[in-house]
Amino acid sequence: MGPRRWWCLLAVALSAAGGAGAQETCSGAVPEPPRRGAWMSVASFGGAGDGRTLNTQAFAAAVARIERRRAPGGALLYVPPGVWLTGPFSLASHMTLFLARGAVIRATQDTSSWPLVDPLPSYGRGRELPGKRYMSLIHGKGLQDVFITGENGTIDGQGSVWWDMWKKGTLPFTRPHLLELMDSSDAIVSNVVFQDSPFWNIHPVYCSNVVIRNVTIIAPHDSPNTDGIDPDSSSNVCIEDCYISTGDDLIAVKSGWDEYGIAYGRPSSDITIRRITGSSPFAGFSVGSETSGGVENVLAEHLNFYNSGFGIHIKTNTGRGGFIRNVTVSDVTLDNVRYGLRIAGDVGGHPDERYNHNALPIVDSLTIKNVQGQNIKEAGLLKGIPKSAFSRICLSNIKLHGSTAVRPWKCEAISGGALEVQPSPCTELTSTSGMSFCTNSL
Ligand SMILES: *[C@@H]1O[C@H](CO)[C@@H](O)[C@H](O)[C@H]1NC(C)=O
Ligand SMILES: *[C@@H]1O[C@H](CO)[C@@H](O)[C@H](O)[C@H]1NC(C)=O
Ligand SMILES: *[C@@H]1O[C@H](CO)[C@@H](O)[C@H](O)[C@H]1NC(C)=O
Repeated sequence: MGPRRWWCLLAVALSAAGGAGAQETCSGAVPEPPRRGAWMSVASFGGAGDGRTLNTQAFAAAVARIERRRAPGGALLYVPPGVWLTGPFSLASHMTLFLARGAVIRATQDTSSWPLVDPLPSYGRGRELPGKRYMSLIHGKGLQDVFITGENGTIDGQGSVWWDMWKKGTLPFTRPHLLELMDSSDAIVSNVVFQDSPFWNIHPVYCSNVVIRNVTIIAPHDSPNTDGIDPDSSSNVCIEDCYISTGDDLIAVKSGWDEYGIAYGRPSSDITIRRITGSSPFAGFSVGSETSGGVENVLAEHLNFYNSGFGIHIKTNTGRGGFIRNVTVSDVTLDNVRYGLRIAGDVGGHPDERYNHNALPIVDSLTIKNVQGQNIKEAGLLKGIPKSAFSRICLSNIKLHGSTAVRPWKCEAISGGALEVQPSPCTELTSTSGMSFCTNSL
């Protein structure tokens, strides 16, 4: 065999392994935005980055200009270094919002000036309170080709006023997100910091083709409901290389709530999540509990969670309907986490009393593999719904260690298989049929 042939074999072997040292990325999941034909700075719209001037009008005027001008390739809105205080504003299609190094878009704490928007149809009401909800700080609806990026600039929600209202029970409506994209496609969010969101940080809902990569999301552990990234009734979402430390689930895949989510019927599907690091008093990675439109074809891998409540939490409830199926979570390291894994059918409240008590979720075909944990307190809970037992749950190569004995698995109304699981799995996961699903899914 000549050197050329050796080279070919080597090249084939390398590409099969993903290339020499190359790792999988979201690149290509969404077309790279074109070179923008126009460039403008928020400073030229009467804005000031002095931390005191309110720039809501400046952002609105800049976005209106972008929409009117329709430059070939779209436009870039530059946010220079400085602190740009603002109320909520909307984005346009074919636009890049670029935060320079040292640029901070800071939400005003004058909560009475925040506009209200309609509830999402798949929730039927605000997530926290009946009626409307506050508009997100940065909002996009019905957009295509939106890019939010920069040089590690910060989007700061100054959420403490909202958290205080929540704690005192004085919130009039559901709190706002830092970024919400609705009914949009081809969106990329990268190289920015999200800080102190009033509520969930990044909420793509009814979207397709979304990439979120290389972002930092931080909020105190005691800040209520500050989920990191919640893909909701969205498809083809790729999230990678993020550091997230907040007061609630770091990533939660959702799809609407009870009778409203069932009627709307839009699943979250084809969701890829990789290389996420961080800590949460709740879960590192979760699905649910709002899954009424269904969640399927999810791959989450190379996750590293510490000082957290749950490593992985898959949650739904009676009344949710919908399904959770074909979810794979692999290559997870956990340190100082209370529960390694929890899959449960009795989690989360209801929007109102009108939910259908017979709407039982279907949970089928979940594979959790290659999990290494230390300082774990409880292996976990796997608890289906008696009238709708969770099926084909596969646990493989899961090693959970504790500083004292790890409390054993608790299982109820589930079936599946377990291979190389420590502490030893419950008998529900040792049937022959469960094992064959498990072996085939690896
Ligand atoms: C990640 O973002 C930082 C700044 O936020 C940037 O310096 C770095 O190059 C980015 N990495 C990638 C792979 O884009
Ligand atoms: C971006 O900012 C965050 C928060 O300040 C910081 O932790 C991170 O190291 C920065 N990343 C880069 C690449 O500068
Ligand atoms: C399961 O989901 C993966 C993506 O995570 C997808 O590639 C695969 O085709 C799905 N399998 C089925 C049977 O739909």
